[in-house]
Amino acid sequence: MAKFTNKIAISAIAAFILIQTVVPFSEAALTANYYDQTCPQAENIIFQTVGNASIFDPKVPARLLRMFFHDCFIRGCDASLLLDSTLGNKAEKDGPPNISIRSFYVIDDAKRKLEKACPQTVSCADVLAIAARDVVAMSKGPWWNALKGRKDGRVSVANETINLPSPFSNTSTLIQSFNKRGLGIKDLVALSGGHTLGFSHCSSFSARLHNFSTEHVTDPSINSEFVINLTKKCPVKNKDHNAGEFLDSTSSVFDNDYYKRISMGKGVFGSDQALYGDYRTKSIVDSFAKDEKLFFREFVTSMVKLGNVGVIENGEVRVKCSIVN
Ligand code: HEM
Ligand SMILES: *[C@@H]1O[C@H](CO)[C@@H](O)[C@H](O)[C@H]1NC(C)=O
Ligand SMILES: *[C@@H]1O[C@H](CO)[C@@H](O)[C@H](O)[C@H]1NC(C)=O
Ligand SMILES: *[C@@H]1O[C@H](CO)[C@@H](O)[C@H](O)[C@H]1NC(C)=O
Ligand SMILES: *[C@@H]1O[C@H](CO)[C@@H](O)[C@H](O)[C@H]1NC(C)=O
Ligand SMILES: *[C@@H]1O[C@H](CO)[C@@H](O)[C@H](O)[C@H]1NC(C)=O
Ligand SMILES: *[C@@H]1O[C@H](CO)[C@@H](O)[C@H](O)[C@H]1NC(C)=O
Repeated sequence: MAKFTNKIAISAIAAFILIQTVVPFSEAALTANYYDQTCPQAENIIFQTVGNASIFDPKVPARLLRMFFHDCFIRGCDASLLLDSTLGNKAEKDGPPNISIRSFYVIDDAKRKLEKACPQTVSCADVLAIAARDVVAMSKGPWWNALKGRKDGRVSVANETINLPSPFSNTSTLIQSFNKRGLGIKDLVALSGGHTLGFSHCSSFSARLHNFSTEHVTDPSINSEFVINLTKKCPVKNKDHNAGEFLDSTSSVFDNDYYKRISMGKGVFGSDQALYGDYRTKSIVDSFAKDEKLFFREFVTSMVKLGNVGVIENGEVRVKCSIVN
């Protein structure tokens, strides 16, 4: 444990220096010390809650990281994904690609504790951003100083989730989708490294294995041994909704293995593998596969940028993350 804390402390200093030099602070109103006066224990409460939940359920880290990405891509990082559907409105969490968008209870738990410690102070959007940072660090990835000061939105629309990138997207479509949120090609490649954690259901990739195209039964960009493994896991197209494959051979460790795998044709999604088939992204994949420290630095930079997407200043601080005040 001491070693772990030490590592975090060292990477914390490194990340802080990095953030100081590369992130333009004028871009948003977010700051690293936003709750220093109003709720100094906020990050500790979140860390304890997320850490405890991850011990009880090892799926929690991957789920919270993905949750942050989905929230920020729809209406910005405003916790719209955390809102429950109501009588007249179907919310994002009930939108189309919500498979394995789970573990909302962890964020709700942290928020409940925060409301006791410092009522109506810490926004749900900030809880999610801090939790996403914590799960990366807990999985032996980098740590960084999360920027805070987001407000929570009051609107969540299921239909809007169709604007999330699809696992079948090609690189041009992915680049466009990221560009719309002010994120560049390097951000796309670095953030896709989130797939170093977690699991996918067959429905997200089995179209690559069965009747792929008129010329090919299986997607020719998949490594020939890996395609056999994947097909064993998902023998029938879109059938088994529980089966699937880990996104990375070290799926609970945040490392650069994801990039090594796509450079060998072992990406699980078409959208992962596409990054190695396009000249605009291939060299970045190679550089991350070769240099894990470089990947960590770029991932941190891109997560900070992702956390700035569509941040709203005139929202509210929700009391309960699943319902508007
Ligand atoms: C580039 C576009 C992206 C696409 C098309 C995409 C798509 C997907 C899909 C289809 C799944 C599996 C869902 C399932 O079948 O259970 C998944 C899982 C996951 N994604 Fe992404 N994703 C993208 C970017 C990201 C980003 C930017 C992050 C975070 C930085 C991320 C983090 C994750 C994680 C951690 C999981 C595993 C979740 C779990 O184990 O429950 N993804 N993604
Ligand atoms: C730790 O997590 C478990 C499982 O979610 C929960 O039952 C328990 O109350 C948590 N403990 C604390 C101290 O939060
Ligand atoms: C996903 O959406 C479906 C259909 O709207 C809903 O029944 C289900 O509860 C949602 N899953 C989660 C985890 O919210
Ligand atoms: C969602 O979008 C589809 C297609 O654009 C439309 O048919 C449907 O009525 C929409 N649903 C809601 C709840 O807006
Ligand atoms: C990428 O996908 C989009 C949408 O499906 C398609 O219109 C486009 O032609 C594709 N681009 C390439 C280079 O394959
Ligand atoms: C494969 O795809 C073609 C064209 O999309 C379709 O006509 C055919 O029935 C499919 N075969 C199988 C085995 O799914
Ligand atoms: C395929 O699965 C076997 C058995 O689980 C494993 O040893 C091998 O490394 C896998 N191959 C690839 C390319 O993932």
